[in-house]
Amino acid sequence: MAHTIVTIAGSLRKESFSLKIANALAKLAPDTLKLEVITPAGISFFNQDLEGAPPADWLAFRDKLQKSNGVLFVTPEYNRSIPGVLKNAIDVASRPYGKSSLLGKPVGIISNSPGPLGGVSAAKHLQNILPGISGLLLQQPEIYLNAVGDAFDADGNLIKDSLKTVLQQYIGAFAAHVAKNQG
Ligand code: FNR
Repeated sequence: MAHTIVTIAGSLRKESFSLKIANALAKLAPDTLKLEVITPAGISFFNQDLEGAPPADWLAFRDKLQKSNGVLFVTPEYNRSIPGVLKNAIDVASRPYGKSSLLGKPVGIISNSPGPLGGVSAAKHLQNILPGISGLLLQQPEIYLNAVGDAFDADGNLIKDSLKTVLQQYIGAFAAHVAKNQG
């Protein structure tokens, strides 16, 4: 059976490039992976006061992660870091203390930007955040996608062949990483 990968596009924007990249990956993934693309929409603000009686949306999000075989982050860069909505989702996933829903899950990070630097600073921040709360991070290949602004047509289809090639290589490597690191 295919491994289920929760693929989190870290933007709420309707025309988000991160979301389009995540959707393109879902189509390019090998048969061994089934990508379930989500965004942080609907995940309420983390508040430690609510931990005794967590909101239903936190529980549903944590449950989805726990049932997955791995998690892929497709993050934009906001002010040289990840967007607050994505950090909030990770904070929700990381609790209760010691029981992160990401524990043991193989993870991958893809950053992107319409600019020249590919969101590398956001990816580096995410690399700092995950180790204490997740399973193993795919270290290679690294992937920081720049100039994504002209990569999609009006219907959201991936039309840039160079990006398609890179995404295909990455998702193939991620499939192997997931297969190798199942608990
Ligand atoms: C940005 N953007 C941006 N881009 C970048 O390469 N480095 C950065 O530090 C920032 N900072 C930043 C801050 C804020 C608040 C916004 C709104 C935007 C531009 C960003 O890459 C661009 O808006 C992307 O299109 C956002 O990702 P999605 O929504 O397309 O996935």
